[in-house]
Amino acid sequence: MTDVEQAVAVLRAGGIVGMPTETVYGLAADAANDAAVRRVFAVKQRPADHPLIVHIAGAGVLPGWCSTVPATATRLAAAAWPGPLTLLVPRAAHVLDAVTGGRDTVGLRVPVHPLAQQLLHHFGGGLAAPSANLFGRVSPTTAQHVRGDLGLLVDVVLDGGPSPVGLESTIVDCTVDPPQILRPGAITAGEIASILDAAIDLGRGPSRAPGMLDAHYAPRCSVLLAANVADAEALAATEGAAGRQVDILHPALNLVAAAHSLYADLRSADDRGLDVLVAVLPPPGGLGDAIRDRLTKAAAGSVRPRE
Ligand code: TXA
Ligand code: MG
Repeated sequence: MTDVEQAVAVLRAGGIVGMPTETVYGLAADAANDAAVRRVFAVKQRPADHPLIVHIAGAGVLPGWCSTVPATATRLAAAAWPGPLTLLVPRAAHVLDAVTGGRDTVGLRVPVHPLAQQLLHHFGGGLAAPSANLFGRVSPTTAQHVRGDLGLLVDVVLDGGPSPVGLESTIVDCTVDPPQILRPGAITAGEIASILDAAIDLGRGPSRAPGMLDAHYAPRCSVLLAANVADAEALAATEGAAGRQVDILHPALNLVAAAHSLYADLRSADDRGLDVLVAVLPPPGGLGDAIRDRLTKAAAGSVRPRE
């Protein structure tokens, strides 16, 4: 039996599988199996009202998951799937409340990672999968991260190597007009605007995606943000003078490389026993928006060391 066949057998039996994707690793369950989906929430210690993304094999099955297919979803799916883009659409009646948190929308995504593609094609149905980390912690970008975080609570972890993108998918709400970007990712606001031939803003106002405004993606050490290297060095000097173990995270000038290694860098700050990580924010725009978003949430989620 191949690893993928074994994973499919686990999913059919109601188990959960660590699934590599191009963004981050997911914790996958049969989206049509209520008990399996509930187990994902239990393993992650995730609140039940934070819905899961359903991963599907291709854009061809999109209509089977929606009550109506928004024209914007069809266009975005044709242009960006398979890839790091999640589309919120009105859900079909069969989609489980456990998946959507009782909402009238469902998030759908077609991952491009070859192992995720193989798994979805062999399995034949949808896979509900959040990132495979404990709730509120840093998302995993390697199979080792998944095993380290969730260990024996996962039945099988497929090892697909380090996730190439390194940040979670862009989420676009196609149930509003104009569509709204709820989470920035590797498919940028500019790309979405050009696919739709419309002006698209990063989401403003109260987010319709629970879990997106809260502190999130946080390592155990404190994360402080700096606008430039000089500010970062000044902050690090102050922290160091107060006796704290501190280092500076300066995202590479190449934003693709910076995104790829961001979560491993945050995890390594903890492994190295740092008290404080000072992170230099990249400029806004393009992939910089997604990196700024995750770093800002990591800073909001970290506890300031005691004075
Ligand atoms: O790249 C990704 O999207 C990864 C990989 C595994 O595909 N998955 C991921 O899932 O990041 P998760 O559960 O960690 O983040 C999904 C976010 C959550 O904040 C959730 O609240 C939101 O998407 N979401 C999912 N379905 C939704 C819905 N129907 N309405 C509003 N927000 C939704
Ligand atoms: Mg997550």
